[in-house]
Amino acid sequence: MGTEVDSGASEPLVSDDSDLKALEKDYKELQDEAQRLLSERVHLENDLANIKKRASRLDEEVRILKSPPLIVGHLQDILDDERAIVRSSNGTVFQVSINQRLDVDKLRPGTRIALNQDTLSIIEILHDAWDPMVSGAEVMEKPNTTYESVGGLDEQILQVREAIELPLEKPELFRKVGIEPPKGILLVGPPGCGKTMLAKAVASHTNASFIRMVGSELAQKYIGEGGRMVRELFSLAKDKSPSIIFLDEIDAIGAKRLDSATSGDREVQRTLMQLLAELDGFDSLEDVKIIAATNRPDILDDALLRPGRFDRIIEIPLPDDTGRKTILSIHFKKMSTSRINVAKIVELTEGFSGAELKATTVEAGMIAIRDNRSKVMQEDILHAVDRIKKKRESNGLSSSPDALYG
Ligand SMILES: Nc1ncnc2c1ncn2[C@@H]1O[C@H](COP(=O)(O)OP(=O)(O)OP(=O)(O)O)[C@@H](O)[C@H]1O
Ligand SMILES: [Mg+2]
Repeated sequence: MGTEVDSGASEPLVSDDSDLKALEKDYKELQDEAQRLLSERVHLENDLANIKKRASRLDEEVRILKSPPLIVGHLQDILDDERAIVRSSNGTVFQVSINQRLDVDKLRPGTRIALNQDTLSIIEILHDAWDPMVSGAEVMEKPNTTYESVGGLDEQILQVREAIELPLEKPELFRKVGIEPPKGILLVGPPGCGKTMLAKAVASHTNASFIRMVGSELAQKYIGEGGRMVRELFSLAKDKSPSIIFLDEIDAIGAKRLDSATSGDREVQRTLMQLLAELDGFDSLEDVKIIAATNRPDILDDALLRPGRFDRIIEIPLPDDTGRKTILSIHFKKMSTSRINVAKIVELTEGFSGAELKATTVEAGMIAIRDNRSKVMQEDILHAVDRIKKKRESNGLSSSPDALYG
């Protein structure tokens, strides 16, 4: 029973060294394997997270692709916190509900909004990117027409400067005296006598930005667009102030409101109403001035001419003798001429507008070029005057454009 002694606490688990080694090796291998599996698990978990992320991104994309388009419209009126009147882009007016997530304070009549297609409820407030027509309305930062290049209108230049330049540059003068400067002026007169030129000269003389919009562009056929463009025009002008809005050919929208039947006419009237509202809506001491021009003052709506709107009407008439002399010399100064008798030309061009006088000088230059000369002579000008007169007759103008105008 000698073995009994050896047995007991210290009986070895393995019988020899080699068994021990093998076990240790197995253990090591298992440990390595565990390590490998662990890191593989980390990798897979990572992959899973990435795939989940991608799935949710794709889900979002699918949701966007599936969501119906929104209708663009304009807010007309807010009834209370929950309801509003909107006009959709096709012109129909609806009463709709306002999405409660929206900031109601930002909603004002005229705000551009996106509407749900089915319920037409207001989903989103669209922020004014300027209408391309309006921002394309030639924000001409600096035209380079000078007062000197406008001939024969000294008195009118003075009036325009008083009404536009002075209040923009020295508003305190008006405050001190306690009077309100005119918000805008209206230049009236036959075509081609310098209305547009004069407006540009004012703009180039002040630091103001110059925003030009032509009436016929505002009198568009799209319903609701004309009014919106007027609104955006004024708000662009305030943004860029000090500024001068130049509404050329205002008769296209400012014609008398008759009981017109066509919707096109009604649309033009809405544009006019919007213009009147904008004119009333700002303070005359603000840094925005308006110059409007027309050659049909007879058809302008009286409302436009009421005090507080275009309360100063400046007539730009056909040039008289002195005027024609100045205008001719302005245009001749840029040309190379030889021995010309301006007085004679002034006499022959009775009834010509500034534009026609300019056309005469250009025509004379053309005649000289055709004749291989580098200087314009009296004869060329006389020929040119004849040609311009013929052109007027073929255009159905009598020799006196005054008969046509006014
Ligand atoms: N008083 C003037 N002095 C110098 N040039 C003039 C004058 N009037 C007109 N012109 C010439 O005629 C061109 C046309 O003038 P302008 O565009 O100012 O006319 P308008 O009065 O605005 O005419 P419309 O009523 O047709 O718009 C000018 O570019 C200029 O070359
Ligand atoms: Mg003009």
